[in-house]
Amino acid sequence: MKNVLFTILAALAVLSCQSDKVRGGISFDEVVASRRSIRHFDASKTISEAEVRTLLSATQEAPSWMNLQPNRYYVAMSPEKLSAVREAIGERNAKNTEGVNVYIVTSFVRGQSGYFRGNVANELGDAWGAHDNGLGNAFLLLKARAMGFDTLLMGGRDGDALRSIFNIPEEETVMAVIAVGYRATDPQRPNRKSFDEIVKFY
Ligand SMILES: Cc1cc2nc3c(=O)[nH]c(=O)nc-3n(C[C@H](O)[C@H](O)[C@H](O)COP(=O)(O)O)c2cc1C
Repeated sequence: MKNVLFTILAALAVLSCQSDKVRGGISFDEVVASRRSIRHFDASKTISEAEVRTLLSATQEAPSWMNLQPNRYYVAMSPEKLSAVREAIGERNAKNTEGVNVYIVTSFVRGQSGYFRGNVANELGDAWGAHDNGLGNAFLLLKARAMGFDTLLMGGRDGDALRSIFNIPEEETVMAVIAVGYRATDPQRPNRKSFDEIVKFY
Protein backbone atom coordinates (compact mmCIF):
# COMPACT_ATOMS: atom_id res chain seq x y z
CA MET A 1 0.00 0.00 0.00
CA LYS A 2 2.84 2.36 0.98
CA ASN A 3 4.51 1.57 -2.37
CA VAL A 4 1.34 2.33 -4.31
CA LEU A 5 0.91 5.66 -2.49
CA PHE A 6 4.55 6.58 -3.15
CA THR A 7 4.20 5.76 -6.87
CA ILE A 8 1.05 7.90 -7.16
CA LEU A 9 2.71 10.84 -5.37
CA ALA A 10 5.81 10.55 -7.56
CA ALA A 11 3.67 10.46 -10.73
CA LEU A 12 1.72 13.54 -9.55
CA ALA A 13 4.99 15.39 -8.87
CA VAL A 14 6.26 14.62 -12.41
CA LEU A 15 2.93 15.68 -13.97
CA SER A 16 2.85 18.94 -12.02
CA CYS A 17 6.43 19.72 -13.16
CA GLN A 18 5.42 19.09 -16.77
CA SER A 19 2.33 21.28 -16.55
CA ASP A 20 4.49 24.03 -14.98
CA LYS A 21 6.73 23.81 -18.04
CA VAL A 22 3.71 24.15 -20.33
CA ARG A 23 2.35 27.05 -18.28
CA GLY A 24 5.76 28.71 -18.00
CA GLY A 25 6.67 28.07 -21.66
CA ILE A 26 6.59 30.88 -24.16
CA SER A 27 5.03 30.43 -27.60
CA PHE A 28 6.95 31.10 -30.81
CA ASP A 29 4.86 34.21 -31.50
CA GLU A 30 5.64 35.52 -27.99
CA VAL A 31 9.34 34.84 -28.55
CA VAL A 32 9.27 36.83 -31.80
CA ALA A 33 7.16 39.68 -30.41
CA SER A 34 9.10 40.08 -27.17
CA ARG A 35 12.61 40.01 -28.67
CA ARG A 36 14.03 43.51 -28.66
CA SER A 37 17.48 45.05 -28.89
CA ILE A 38 18.24 45.69 -25.22
CA ARG A 39 20.49 48.57 -24.20
CA HIS A 40 20.08 48.38 -20.44
CA PHE A 41 20.98 45.06 -18.80
CA ASP A 42 20.48 43.77 -15.26
CA ALA A 43 24.04 43.42 -13.90
CA SER A 44 22.88 41.32 -10.93
CA LYS A 45 22.05 38.33 -13.18
CA THR A 46 24.54 36.16 -15.01
CA ILE A 47 24.37 33.35 -17.56
CA SER A 48 26.22 30.05 -17.14
CA GLU A 49 28.48 28.36 -19.66
CA ALA A 50 26.01 25.45 -19.80
CA GLU A 51 23.25 27.91 -20.79
CA VAL A 52 25.47 29.44 -23.48
CA ARG A 53 26.12 25.94 -24.84
CA THR A 54 22.37 25.28 -25.07
CA LEU A 55 21.87 28.68 -26.70
CA LEU A 56 24.57 28.10 -29.32
CA SER A 57 23.39 24.59 -30.10
CA ALA A 58 20.27 26.21 -31.64
CA THR A 59 22.52 27.74 -34.33
CA GLN A 60 23.46 24.23 -35.44
CA GLU A 61 19.88 23.79 -36.64
CA ALA A 62 20.03 26.83 -38.94
CA PRO A 63 19.97 26.17 -42.68
CA SER A 64 23.11 26.92 -44.70
CA TRP A 65 24.30 26.78 -48.32
CA MET A 66 24.68 23.04 -49.20
CA ASN A 67 24.71 22.42 -45.44
CA LEU A 68 28.32 23.69 -45.34
CA GLN A 69 27.77 25.32 -41.93
CA PRO A 70 30.30 28.16 -42.36
CA ASN A 71 29.49 29.93 -39.07
CA ARG A 72 31.91 30.08 -36.16
CA TYR A 73 31.35 31.48 -32.65
CA TYR A 74 33.81 32.95 -30.16
CA VAL A 75 32.46 33.30 -26.63
CA ALA A 76 33.86 35.82 -24.15
CA MET A 77 33.03 35.02 -20.52
CA SER A 78 36.31 35.56 -18.66
CA PRO A 79 36.88 39.04 -17.15
CA GLU A 80 39.84 39.77 -19.44
CA LYS A 81 38.06 38.75 -22.66
CA LEU A 82 34.89 40.62 -21.62
CA SER A 83 36.85 43.82 -21.12
CA ALA A 84 38.81 43.30 -24.37
CA VAL A 85 35.52 42.94 -26.30
CA ARG A 86 34.16 46.08 -24.57
CA GLU A 87 37.18 47.95 -25.95
CA ALA A 88 36.38 46.67 -29.46
CA ILE A 89 32.70 47.66 -29.66
CA GLY A 90 33.00 51.41 -29.11
CA GLU A 91 32.03 53.51 -26.13
CA ARG A 92 28.31 53.60 -26.81
CA ASN A 93 27.86 49.84 -27.34
CA ALA A 94 30.11 49.16 -24.32
CA LYS A 95 28.00 51.44 -22.13
CA ASN A 96 24.74 49.94 -23.42
CA THR A 97 25.89 46.41 -22.65
CA GLU A 98 27.40 47.14 -19.23
CA GLY A 99 26.82 44.27 -16.82
CA VAL A 100 26.46 41.40 -19.29
CA ASN A 101 28.76 38.43 -18.66
CA VAL A 102 28.57 37.01 -22.19
CA TYR A 103 29.61 38.39 -25.59
CA ILE A 104 29.44 36.12 -28.62
CA VAL A 105 31.46 37.07 -31.70
CA THR A 106 30.19 35.50 -34.91
CA SER A 107 32.15 34.85 -38.10
CA PHE A 108 31.91 32.74 -41.22
CA VAL A 109 34.50 30.84 -43.26
CA ARG A 110 34.75 32.41 -46.72
CA GLY A 111 34.74 30.34 -49.93
CA GLN A 112 32.03 27.96 -48.72
CA SER A 113 28.50 29.38 -48.89
CA GLY A 114 27.99 30.74 -52.42
CA TYR A 115 30.48 28.30 -53.94
CA PHE A 116 30.17 25.04 -55.87
CA ARG A 117 33.21 22.77 -56.31
CA GLY A 118 35.52 25.65 -55.42
CA ASN A 119 33.97 28.12 -57.90
CA VAL A 120 31.73 31.07 -57.16
CA ALA A 121 28.21 29.83 -57.91
CA ASN A 122 26.56 33.15 -58.72
CA GLU A 123 26.93 36.92 -58.53
CA LEU A 124 26.61 37.02 -54.72
CA GLY A 125 29.63 34.87 -53.90
CA ASP A 126 30.68 35.26 -50.26
CA ALA A 127 27.62 37.41 -49.56
CA TRP A 128 25.94 34.02 -49.05
CA GLY A 129 28.32 33.45 -46.13
CA ALA A 130 27.15 36.70 -44.57
CA HIS A 131 23.60 35.57 -45.29
CA ASP A 132 24.13 32.23 -43.52
CA ASN A 133 25.78 34.02 -40.60
CA GLY A 134 22.69 36.23 -40.25
CA LEU A 135 20.46 33.14 -40.34
CA GLY A 136 22.48 31.56 -37.53
CA ASN A 137 22.29 34.82 -35.58
CA ALA A 138 18.51 34.92 -35.99
CA PHE A 139 18.29 31.42 -34.50
CA LEU A 140 20.57 32.55 -31.66
CA LEU A 141 18.54 35.70 -30.85
CA LEU A 142 15.22 33.85 -30.85
CA LYS A 143 16.54 30.91 -28.84
CA ALA A 144 17.95 33.41 -26.32
CA ARG A 145 14.50 34.97 -25.92
CA ALA A 146 12.89 31.52 -25.58
CA MET A 147 15.36 30.81 -22.73
CA GLY A 148 14.36 34.08 -21.02
CA PHE A 149 17.53 35.96 -22.06
CA ASP A 150 17.92 39.23 -23.92
CA THR A 151 20.40 40.33 -26.54
CA LEU A 152 21.98 43.21 -28.38
CA LEU A 153 23.45 42.38 -31.78
CA MET A 154 26.15 44.89 -32.71
CA GLY A 155 27.58 45.64 -36.13
CA GLY A 156 29.40 48.65 -34.69
CA ARG A 157 32.60 46.86 -33.75
CA ASP A 158 36.27 46.73 -34.71
CA GLY A 159 36.69 43.52 -36.72
CA ASP A 160 40.51 43.62 -36.67
CA ALA A 161 40.59 44.04 -32.88
CA LEU A 162 38.19 41.10 -32.45
CA ARG A 163 40.28 38.97 -34.82
CA SER A 164 43.33 39.51 -32.67
CA ILE A 165 41.51 39.05 -29.32
CA PHE A 166 40.25 35.58 -30.37
CA ASN A 167 42.94 34.68 -32.88
CA ILE A 168 40.33 34.37 -35.61
CA PRO A 169 41.88 32.87 -38.78
CA GLU A 170 42.24 35.11 -41.87
CA GLU A 171 39.90 32.87 -43.91
CA GLU A 172 37.01 33.85 -41.64
CA THR A 173 35.08 37.12 -41.94
CA VAL A 174 34.23 38.65 -38.57
CA MET A 175 30.56 39.64 -38.40
CA ALA A 176 28.56 40.57 -35.29
CA VAL A 177 29.09 40.82 -31.57
CA ILE A 178 26.06 39.66 -29.58
CA ALA A 179 25.69 40.64 -25.93
CA VAL A 180 23.57 38.20 -23.92
CA GLY A 181 21.99 39.02 -20.57
CA TYR A 182 18.75 39.96 -18.89
CA ARG A 183 16.83 43.17 -19.64
CA ALA A 184 16.71 45.71 -16.82
CA THR A 185 13.87 47.68 -18.43
CA ASP A 186 11.31 47.01 -21.14
CA PRO A 187 12.09 49.02 -24.28
CA GLN A 188 9.45 50.39 -26.67
CA ARG A 189 8.99 48.58 -29.96
CA PRO A 190 10.76 50.69 -32.60
CA ASN A 191 8.51 51.69 -35.52
CA ARG A 192 8.28 49.29 -38.42
CA LYS A 193 7.48 50.01 -42.06
CA SER A 194 3.95 49.07 -43.01
CA PHE A 195 3.34 45.52 -44.21
CA ASP A 196 2.32 46.76 -47.67
CA GLU A 197 5.53 48.72 -48.07
CA ILE A 198 7.67 45.61 -47.74
CA VAL A 199 5.43 42.85 -49.19
CA LYS A 200 4.01 42.53 -52.70
CA PHE A 201 1.68 39.73 -53.74
CA TYR A 202 1.35 38.83 -57.42
C1 LIG B 1 23.35 44.05 -38.55
C2 LIG B 1 22.89 44.82 -37.35
C3 LIG B 1 23.79 45.66 -36.70
C4 LIG B 1 23.39 46.36 -35.54
N1 LIG B 1 24.31 47.09 -34.86
C5 LIG B 1 23.94 47.71 -33.70
C6 LIG B 1 24.91 48.37 -32.91
O1 LIG B 1 26.09 48.41 -33.19
N2 LIG B 1 24.47 48.99 -31.77
C7 LIG B 1 23.15 48.97 -31.38
O2 LIG B 1 22.83 49.54 -30.34
N3 LIG B 1 22.23 48.31 -32.09
C8 LIG B 1 22.58 47.66 -33.24
N4 LIG B 1 21.65 46.94 -33.96
C9 LIG B 1 20.25 46.85 -33.47
C10 LIG B 1 19.27 47.64 -34.34
O3 LIG B 1 19.43 49.01 -34.10
C11 LIG B 1 17.84 47.16 -33.99
O4 LIG B 1 17.70 45.82 -34.39
C12 LIG B 1 16.75 48.00 -34.67
O5 LIG B 1 16.77 49.32 -34.21
C13 LIG B 1 15.35 47.41 -34.40
O6 LIG B 1 15.09 47.28 -33.02
P1 LIG B 1 14.73 45.88 -32.36
O7 LIG B 1 15.92 44.96 -32.56
O8 LIG B 1 14.47 46.17 -30.91
O9 LIG B 1 13.53 45.32 -33.04
C14 LIG B 1 22.04 46.24 -35.09
C15 LIG B 1 21.16 45.37 -35.74
C16 LIG B 1 21.58 44.65 -36.84
C17 LIG B 1 20.63 43.67 -37.47
